[in-house]
Amino acid sequence: MNMNDVIRELNERKSIRAFTDQMISAEERDAILNAAVQAPTAGNQQLYAILNITDQSLKNRLSETCDHQPMIARAKLVLIFCADCSRWLELYKEAGCDFRTPGTGDLILACEDACIAAQNAVTAAWSLGIGSCYIGDILENVEIHQKLLHLPEYTMPVCMVIFGYPSAEVMNQLKPQRADLDLIVHENAYHSLSSQQLRRTVQQRLHGETFEQWTAAFCNRKYDSSFSREMSRSADIYLKQFQKEDR
Ligand SMILES: Cc1cc2nc3c(=O)[nH]c(=O)nc-3n(C[C@H](O)[C@H](O)[C@H](O)COP(=O)(O)O)c2cc1C
Repeated sequence: MNMNDVIRELNERKSIRAFTDQMISAEERDAILNAAVQAPTAGNQQLYAILNITDQSLKNRLSETCDHQPMIARAKLVLIFCADCSRWLELYKEAGCDFRTPGTGDLILACEDACIAAQNAVTAAWSLGIGSCYIGDILENVEIHQKLLHLPEYTMPVCMVIFGYPSAEVMNQLKPQRADLDLIVHENAYHSLSSQQLRRTVQQRLHGETFEQWTAAFCNRKYDSSFSREMSRSADIYLKQFQKEDR
């Protein structure tokens, strides 16, 4: 296939969880942030807010509240991408518009905007030699995070991304493989996978375990974990703000 630098870098990017001491310059930070806001955005509304966490004590706290991941405290740049349906509401109020309150469709659109902006930041950082890792656990502990980050109504932290220069050791580690394309891409409509195809989606991850052993352990560790349940509890609370009756 005729590769170019963009495609090669998208293929090579991997999550980086161990960083060197090298700082990210203000110029690099701004390049990452500018790339984020150049992402496609529904109706050019930029339905997100990006929180740049510079306070070390706040990073330390987030490294605890986001499922105890110490690498958050060690990251050189920490960005939280929030779905933001509040800013436009304030703007409509400012203009004296007759407006409805945001619903779940607005929230989903804002989540899409926030994630797309985040991924632009990730790609831009990688092109500068800066590694990153998403932290999904920012969705947990709604009560703590709303207070800690002063989140107004109709905002929700969708993802946190931590950045830093990769340690030499992690650059030598292999990127986790993906499932074969034919298991992910469906032609024209959704086609349920056969038993054989389902098994093939995780084949390269078994490392000597049986399909049943590996899947049971994975289910326990990820899907059925306490952090996953906490994520849904918190997300339900954010969601309720968007499910009021007055529309
Ligand atoms: C929404 C989302 C949430 C994630 N949350 C975490 C996290 O909390 N901690 C972590 O170490 N990695 C996290 N990751 C990184 C994934 O584990 C990683 O992308 C996946 O294993 C594939 O590896 P790769 O990014 O190196 O290709 C997250 C990724 C995404 C997209």
